[in-house]
Amino acid sequence: MSYFENKLYHVVTYGCQMNVHESEKIRGILSTLGMLETEDIDKANVVVFNTCCIREGAEDRAYNNIAALKKSKQKDPSKIIVVCGCMSQQKNGKYNLKTRLPFVDVVIGTHNINMLAEYLKKRVETGKRVFEIIDKPTADMDGGRCIRDDKINAYVNIIYGCNKFCTYCIVPYVRGREMSRPLREIYQEVRDLVQNQGYKYITLLGQNVNSYGKDLKEKSSFSVLLKALCQIEGDFKIKFMTSHPMDFTDDVIQVMKTEPKVAKALHLPVQSGSSSILEKMNRHYDIKHYMTIIKKLKRAIPNISLSTDIIVGFPGETEKDFNLTLKLLKKVKYDQVFAFMYSPRSGTPAATFLDQVPDDVKNKRINKLLRLQKLIQKEQTKKYFKKTYDCLIRLEHGVAVGITDGGKEIYIPNYKYSNQNYFAKVQVEDIRNHKLSGVIK
Ligand code: 5AD
Ligand code: SF4
Repeated sequence: MSYFENKLYHVVTYGCQMNVHESEKIRGILSTLGMLETEDIDKANVVVFNTCCIREGAEDRAYNNIAALKKSKQKDPSKIIVVCGCMSQQKNGKYNLKTRLPFVDVVIGTHNINMLAEYLKKRVETGKRVFEIIDKPTADMDGGRCIRDDKINAYVNIIYGCNKFCTYCIVPYVRGREMSRPLREIYQEVRDLVQNQGYKYITLLGQNVNSYGKDLKEKSSFSVLLKALCQIEGDFKIKFMTSHPMDFTDDVIQVMKTEPKVAKALHLPVQSGSSSILEKMNRHYDIKHYMTIIKKLKRAIPNISLSTDIIVGFPGETEKDFNLTLKLLKKVKYDQVFAFMYSPRSGTPAATFLDQVPDDVKNKRINKLLRLQKLIQKEQTKKYFKKTYDCLIRLEHGVAVGITDGGKEIYIPNYKYSNQNYFAKVQVEDIRNHKLSGVIK
């Protein structure tokens, strides 16, 4: 029997969907070692922190929670603490994990979580701390066991890394260059998830999904991949994130329009409503180009649900620039906006820009933006009236709800059936207190 057989593990995840999915792979690796999952971090024999460093807040949170485990480790010195993910891959991060957290046993980066089992064994066999940060992936990150959290939506990686180098962003430094998975491999994974495991949504993941295929020997593209996946038989839908406005091409809009299996929802980060700030961000597009895409999307898919990311207080952002962002929100009328205060990341160009915006200004701006977006969203509820949406039908505590591609809930008060988890058309008949209700068509 191996050392790890029947021992307990606990995984703590910070950050984006990519990390959530990587933690699912980590759980797969630990279960392959014969380990069992526990909710109780103090009881766990192995604790893995899968970290994020996109903003300072994410780093601080992870660091403090790892540091808080010191007592638990003192009580049980055999407890193995692993730190992996973006924070460990960072070269000049805020925290030096090696020196500041001497009770951490294993530190690995973003390119070698697939080696976790070997590193754990090494730790037990040698009694020494293990630090393995490598610059590039050496082996396939997929194909192993994966224990997914969600039974309805499954994440599937299609492309790793990012070549864009937006001036604020740490991702290209900690996740490396773009690397697409072969189409056939993705196809097989999605088919298995849909046909053998009953998943209803497949969310394709990548820092920039629209770059899919450019680096493959057998050249491909994101729209080619989408079309191929739509050939898979079954009652399911495909979502994807994240898209980049520069690479978001008309063929993708066409596939979104014509393929019923592609969800009518899109997350298209704009970051700022000011073209001069976009240039300083190295985003490779201006607002005119962005608005052209939005117009095309709305024309092709009138019911589309749109969401975006915004950074407020990027270096040099004036009141005028910020007002342009507010103007953009009023124009596009997103269903959801994720707004962040700019956080300087060491090693990125923008961190050295001299015209940093003070924190109190960032604070004021983000609050103003969020207040505006709240009003827009309330106002937006009206647009649902009498419209029909393709929804996943779910029973929540006995009440039927249709969930749109954009995640909006439509209550179905007169639901006469007992089945759920299938797609059906739901027409909105009533809106009260911004809550929607309707009937199945
Ligand atoms: N500061 C604030 N927000 C950032 N993002 C990326 N880097 C930073 C940073 N340094 C935001 C962007 C991106 C989202 C995932 O995180 O809006 O789209
Ligand atoms: Fe970061 Fe820009 Fe790449 Fe997105 S596209 S991961 S924001 S560098």
